[in-house]
Amino acid sequence: MAAFSTKPMLLCVTFTAILSLCLVLSLAEFQRFVQPTKADGSLSFLVVGDWGRRGGYNQSQVAHQMGIIGDKLDIDFVISTGDNFYDDGLTGVDDPAFDESFSNVYTAPSLQRQWYTVLGNHDYRGDVLAQLSPILGKFDSRWLCLRSFIVDAEIVEFFFVDTTPFSDKYFTNPKDDVYDWRGVLPREKYLSNLLKELDLALKESTAKWKIVVGHHTIRSAGNHGNTVELVAQLLPILQANNVDFYINGHDHCLEHISSPDSALQFLTSGGGSKAWKDDIDWWNPTEMKFYYDGQGFMSVQITQAGVDSAFYDISGRVLHKWGTTKQLYSII
Ligand SMILES: *[C@@H]1O[C@H](CO)[C@@H](O)[C@H](O)[C@H]1NC(C)=O
Repeated sequence: MAAFSTKPMLLCVTFTAILSLCLVLSLAEFQRFVQPTKADGSLSFLVVGDWGRRGGYNQSQVAHQMGIIGDKLDIDFVISTGDNFYDDGLTGVDDPAFDESFSNVYTAPSLQRQWYTVLGNHDYRGDVLAQLSPILGKFDSRWLCLRSFIVDAEIVEFFFVDTTPFSDKYFTNPKDDVYDWRGVLPREKYLSNLLKELDLALKESTAKWKIVVGHHTIRSAGNHGNTVELVAQLLPILQANNVDFYINGHDHCLEHISSPDSALQFLTSGGGSKAWKDDIDWWNPTEMKFYYDGQGFMSVQITQAGVDSAFYDISGRVLHKWGTTKQLYSII
């Protein structure tokens, strides 16, 4: 009897080992990057979204002003909130759009810093693996694009979240668009692991400030409006973990919405190129702090004690300023 059972036993052990390896891999933690602060512990950065149009639709003008403000604030890095390449992402790592819409547009010396980049829905319509490929970082060392990842900058921790797979309509009603879901399926598992990892990482964070960045809106008065899937699934995690800001693009505007019941602020910086949609669903005026339908970008300056942010139009004019402070001691 014993002689016969050896083989199935071995098979069973091997199978279990593979299964647990798969489990470990699928629960892999978000990749972490360390972003050094300035000597005084502060940080400053710019945020731009929805931009890659080969310089068109005022993309070049936005880039030019980013260069000037970036120099003035001595920025440490740039955040892109996604929809990096219109209309359909990149066709491959050798797609000339990478140079034409990125390297050859954001040429100012102050913008020669790390770019932390997430994917938008338009990026998912191209070759997603190409846009995520480290090869692009060899062409332009600023480029860092992952699905979900963490940037640890001492006083602040950034949690970048891949929001496109949350939206039902890309799956149920893609119309003529073809989405590249490699690495995302099965979707339910991908999303539940992502949320679990995010919640865990936020709980473990001891940073003074917590900022979550995604492409899609949670709250927005713009054309796309609120993303119901993110309101249902992502927002409760941000609220439970005292996240300070949710920063996104998707709506091609500049926008600041506050929360009625918490400190969480919703900041949209999606004015990197095509804008002026003229489709605004005016919000509760006590929560809606600012809305601009045109092109521009956002700056953020952070110290232990406070955050100052500003929105700019294509002439570099400050359209809206906002700041907040926290007591110097930490409760953690
Ligand atoms: C470029 O920006 C200017 C100033 O905001 C605006 O009047 C113009 O319509 C914009 N062009 C496009 C194509 O959006």
